[in-house]
Amino acid sequence: MSADFAGRVVLVTGGGSGIGRATASAFAHRSAAVVVAGRNADNLDRAVAAIRADGGEATAVPCDVRSEGDVTRLVARTVSVYGALDIAFNNAGVSLVGSLADLSIAEWDEVIATNLTGTFLLMKHEINQMRRTGGGVIVNNASNAAHMTVPQLAAYSASKAAVLSLTRAVAREFLAEGIRINAISPGPVDTPIWASRPGESQDDRRRRMAAESPAGMVGSAEEIARMVLWLASPDARYVAGHDLVVDGAMSS
Ligand SMILES: NC(=O)c1ccc[n+]([C@@H]2O[C@H](COP(=O)([O-])OP(=O)(O)OC[C@H]3O[C@@H](n4cnc5c(N)ncnc54)[C@H](OP(=O)(O)O)[C@@H]3O)[C@@H](O)[C@H]2O)c1
Repeated sequence: MSADFAGRVVLVTGGGSGIGRATASAFAHRSAAVVVAGRNADNLDRAVAAIRADGGEATAVPCDVRSEGDVTRLVARTVSVYGALDIAFNNAGVSLVGSLADLSIAEWDEVIATNLTGTFLLMKHEINQMRRTGGGVIVNNASNAAHMTVPQLAAYSASKAAVLSLTRAVAREFLAEGIRINAISPGPVDTPIWASRPGESQDDRRRRMAAESPAGMVGSAEEIARMVLWLASPDARYVAGHDLVVDGAMSS
C-alpha cells in the first residue's frame, strides 16, 4: 500500500492499547496527525510518547465512548488541536466471556453501551464534523464473532453484529456527502482484551486461540492496522459499506 497520510487528521478510539495503539502508530508513521482516545490516561500518554519518539505527531484525549458529552468534546478537541477530522477508527470495545444464563443486565448494558452505543455516538459526531469539511473516512472495528458462533460470547457477538448493521445502514446514507464508511472484522488477535479468561495462562490462551484458527495462528495488531490503513486510503475509494474480514478463514 502506497498511501501517505500527510496532512490528514486521524482519530483512533481505544488508541492506548492493542489494535488501536498499533493503528495509531501506523497512521503516524505515514505522516498523519493522530488523536488517541480512551479512558486510561497513562496508556494514552504512553502511546503518544512512543509515536513522538518515532518522529510522529499525536495527542491524547481521555474519553469514555459511552458518554455523549465525552464524545462531543473528543471531536471538538481534535478539531481545535489539528484543524479537522479526516479519518476515524472507531475501535474502542470491551469483551465479556460467560454464559448468557449467568449474564447480569449490568454486564449486558456495559457491552452494548461501549461497543454499539459508543460506535453510534462516535459516528454521529464524526459525521457532523466531516460534513463541515466535505467528507472523510470512518472504519468501525467489529469482529469475526459477528459472523460465526462463538460460545460464551453472546453479548459481545450481538454487539458486534449490530455494529456491522449500523455500518451498512449509514454507509449508503452518507457516501454522497463524501463520507466513506466501512467495518473491519478481525479474528483472534493477541491483545489485552483476551487476557481475562478465568483459569488460563497467557501461553495457554495463545495456544488455544491458534489451535481454533484454520491458519494455526492468531493475528497481530500490526496486521489489522495495515488493513485499516488500506480501508482509509484513496486505494479503497470505491470500497464503502463493506466489512473486511481478517481472520484466516476462521468464519468462512
Ligand atoms: N483482539 C481480538 O482478538 C479482537 C478480535 C476482533 C475484534 N476486536 C476488537 O478490536 C477492538 C480493540 O480491541 P483490542 O483487541 O485491541 O483490545 P484492547 O487492547 O483491550 O483494546 C480495547 C480498547 O478499548 C478501549 N475502551 C474500552 N472501553 C472504553 C470506553 N468506554 N471508552 C473509551 N475507550 C474504551 C480501551 O481503553 P481504556 O480501557 O483505556 O478505555 C482499550 O484501549 C475492540 O473493539 C475489539 O472488540 C478484537
